[in-house]
Amino acid sequence: ENNALIDRYGRRFRYLRLSITDVCNFKCSYCLPDGYQCDSERDFLRPTDIATLVSAFAGLGTRKVRITGGEPSLRKDLPEIIELCAQTPGIEQVAMTTNGFKLKQQVARWQQAGLTKLNLSIDSLDPRQFNAITGHNSLQDILAGLEDALALGLEVKVNAVLLKPYSEGQMHSFMAWLKSMPVTLRFIELMQTGDNQLYFKHNHLSGQPIKQQLLEQGWVQLLRDNTAGPAQEFSHPDYAGRIGLIMPYSKDFCSSCNRLRVSALGKLHLCLFAEQGLDLRALIQQGDVAALQQQLMDLLGHKEASHWLDQGYTGATRHLAMLGG
Ligand code: GTP
Ligand code: 5AD
Ligand code: SF4
Repeated sequence: ENNALIDRYGRRFRYLRLSITDVCNFKCSYCLPDGYQCDSERDFLRPTDIATLVSAFAGLGTRKVRITGGEPSLRKDLPEIIELCAQTPGIEQVAMTTNGFKLKQQVARWQQAGLTKLNLSIDSLDPRQFNAITGHNSLQDILAGLEDALALGLEVKVNAVLLKPYSEGQMHSFMAWLKSMPVTLRFIELMQTGDNQLYFKHNHLSGQPIKQQLLEQGWVQLLRDNTAGPAQEFSHPDYAGRIGLIMPYSKDFCSSCNRLRVSALGKLHLCLFAEQGLDLRALIQQGDVAALQQQLMDLLGHKEASHWLDQGYTGATRHLAMLGG
């Protein structure tokens, strides 16, 4: 196929992760322990810019857009952004990753605007632990919002970062919860970023022993089709929910990479840990979709095979709020 986003390793990119802000109101201990610090007004892409960008990607075969942040729901024009993504010809899925702070209040609007999938961060089901990790007391509201999202028919995945001091107790309550909760719960290996080096050293846990336990307890690994992302998924006949493992420290994690990223400032990031973003803003603001597409295809030529986390490499990304994970 001509005009498709395929890299020199044969990976095909039909999935755009679009950050719409790097501002966040949570203080997750592994991400923004001191909260979001801002020195100046940031000039984020506007809805018209986003429309140009998404149609350029869609014309190159992108079928899914995930809106990320920071916390995307802090933008007042979020429903408008969801809608324009959903209405771009070629885009079939509009997903979002959120901390859930505005979920209960806003989820119906998001769904009306065209949202189809939701990833929600819940690092612990214990209100005190949740508070200790995120700096917020909103677990009960978030869980209520999750029920609303399911009732509206949204596909929901829950993200929990694996953290050494919590993981054992965590595992117990998460498993009990999953018996009747029809969500995919993904345990994510903590990633080292520029700002969390010491925290990483003290708190990182491998997902491999969990995989082993799951298999011993009768969980069955699901086959992945070739468009699936890097999570490994498992199901069990006694559980309504599924479990996913995101293990960027395992070998070959990057061979199934299917995503490209654009930051809220309009920079293309070929990898979560790429050294720097490549500025698309000039062409975005000219509204020149064809030129933008040519630029995207040229830049994709520089995508590396891997980010080599398994070999101890740490990229230039200071924290994942900069880029939406
Ligand atoms: P879907 O496959 O669309 O559900 O997305 P996802 O699971 O990638 O999305 P989400 O935003 O919920 O991210 C979950 C975790 O996976 C976050 O910690 C991300 O940083 C991590 N992640 C997603 N993509 C990559 C990647 O390409 N490389 C690495 N190292 N981590 C990733
Ligand atoms: N390592 C692993 N996951 C992280 N997240 C944020 N920072 C990190 C990190 N350093 C997670 C959030 C959210 C998802 C988008 O990324 O908890 O669920
Ligand atoms: Fe905010 Fe997400 Fe970072 Fe937590 S992980 S501080 S919710 S951007």
